[in-house]
Amino acid sequence: MTAPLQLTDGGTLYERIGPEALSALVTRFYERVAVDPDLSPIFPADLTATAEKQLAFLTGFLGGPPLYHRTYGPPRLRARHLPHAITPTRGWAWLACMDAALHDTPQIGAAEARELYAALSRVAAHMVNTPDDDGGAGVEPGQLFSID
Ligand code: HEM
Repeated sequence: MTAPLQLTDGGTLYERIGPEALSALVTRFYERVAVDPDLSPIFPADLTATAEKQLAFLTGFLGGPPLYHRTYGPPRLRARHLPHAITPTRGWAWLACMDAALHDTPQIGAAEARELYAALSRVAAHMVNTPDDDGGAGVEPGQLFSID
């Protein structure tokens, strides 16, 4: 899950995206999260520290320096998300914010955006830990998200 992604000859995804564009992406992403009706209730009002942790995590996840590990230790992301009710609806909302943020960050090329989104989709699916109130209507069993 947290092994660096090195998918093509062009270097790691981190090298291909670059730190400035990655930082811009994270900023755009949390601007979306802050106003998302499904996500904002479970996030802190001040997203500064959250955004810093996410940038540190993504830097290592994409093959750059392991900034998150150095400061916080093993990410154990699923365990760290357990205190939060991550429903399939919130999983999709998270990915929708990321998709919008990628479109808002033109410094990231289309190929890199596709690879990053695909990788994050898998991580997001793994974070889902709570059924939707309506039992998850609209999400087919065996689709992207599973509850366990
Ligand atoms: C599936 C939808 C997701 C939801 C609803 C969600 C929600 C949250 C929430 C509520 C927090 C706590 C924020 C805080 O108190 O500062 C958090 C932290 C975090 N999330 Fe997510 N998350 C999701 C997916 C992901 C994914 C896909 C990743 C990685 C690519 C990720 C990486 C992180 C990191 C690194 C933290 C900081 C952990 C720490 O406290 O050290 N999250 N997330």
